[in-house]
Amino acid sequence: MKLALATAIAAFDLDDDLEPLRVACEKAGIDTSVVAWDDMTVSWARFDAVLLRSPWDYVERLPEFLAWCERTAKQAALWNPPDVVRWNTDKRYLGDLARQGLPVIESHFLAPGDDPATLPDLEEFVVKPTVGAGSRDAQRYLRADRPAAIAHAKRLLDQARHVLVQPYLRAVDEQGETALLFFEGQFSHAIRKAPLLKRGEDPTSALFKAESITARQPSATELDVANRVLAALPFDTLAYARVDLLPSDTGPQLLELELTEPSVFLPYGEGAAARFAAVLAARLAR
Ligand SMILES: Nc1ncnc2c1ncn2[C@@H]1O[C@H](COP(=O)(O)OP(=O)(O)O)[C@@H](O)[C@H]1O
Ligand SMILES: [Mg+2]
Repeated sequence: MKLALATAIAAFDLDDDLEPLRVACEKAGIDTSVVAWDDMTVSWARFDAVLLRSPWDYVERLPEFLAWCERTAKQAALWNPPDVVRWNTDKRYLGDLARQGLPVIESHFLAPGDDPATLPDLEEFVVKPTVGAGSRDAQRYLRADRPAAIAHAKRLLDQARHVLVQPYLRAVDEQGETALLFFEGQFSHAIRKAPLLKRGEDPTSALFKAESITARQPSATELDVANRVLAALPFDTLAYARVDLLPSDTGPQLLELELTEPSVFLPYGEGAAARFAAVLAARLAR
């Protein structure tokens, strides 16, 4: 049973889950290699499966990454599979989920060619690209900053990127964000992430913004929302999934669904690495 844990040349040494997962996989009897998705010398056919771990530079090269996923999935099992990755790497999926009646943060979308001045009039809001990760190009604005927000949206639209505008959910400032981790559809553990967007602060230029993480017990409502979101997906049970929720007056709301390259925060979940490895070993044995 040969498994590749796929990172990126640009992300080597940045993925805190890689080493605990590799060790747990070896313990579970899996022959495990860490490889970069963009390393042209790798022959993917020599693996039984490839797990997307930290291909964190795909945002700037999405068509190339999606083509690589399709190619690789013909040579080995790819987790998660290419159709999931294609759907999940563009936050326009939030619109699909909202239409199904799930509690998604109010989301407005602008497409290239749209007038950036039509962005919704909200008291405090976030402008971000629909294809994005690590908080890059995401910024928080007050109504009074509207000209700057329009300029930000215009910059993204001019780069042929779709734009997502959401109200800023202020409860995150006290309660933080909750990320719930699932392996093979089963809840494993959760973490709290401190708020990332400060008023008046420019977006990060790093591969991802530094995050402050602690272990967290999710509430029954958070668990319920996360389970409902996963149950609504048009895919078979996924090897891994992360559901990110923000608190609000009306209960937890979906911020994003990470089915491609999530940090799974193994160091914060007792037994989490072993649970993930067991899921992978069972899949490899199928
Ligand atoms: N609508 C929002 N309300 C409050 N905070 C937000 C909102 N949208 C984004 N943020 C903050 O910005 C961070 C990054 O946004 P997110 O949508 O998770 O994109 P990414 O894919 O870059 O992680 C979040 O972790 C959160 O701290
Ligand atoms: Mg996020």
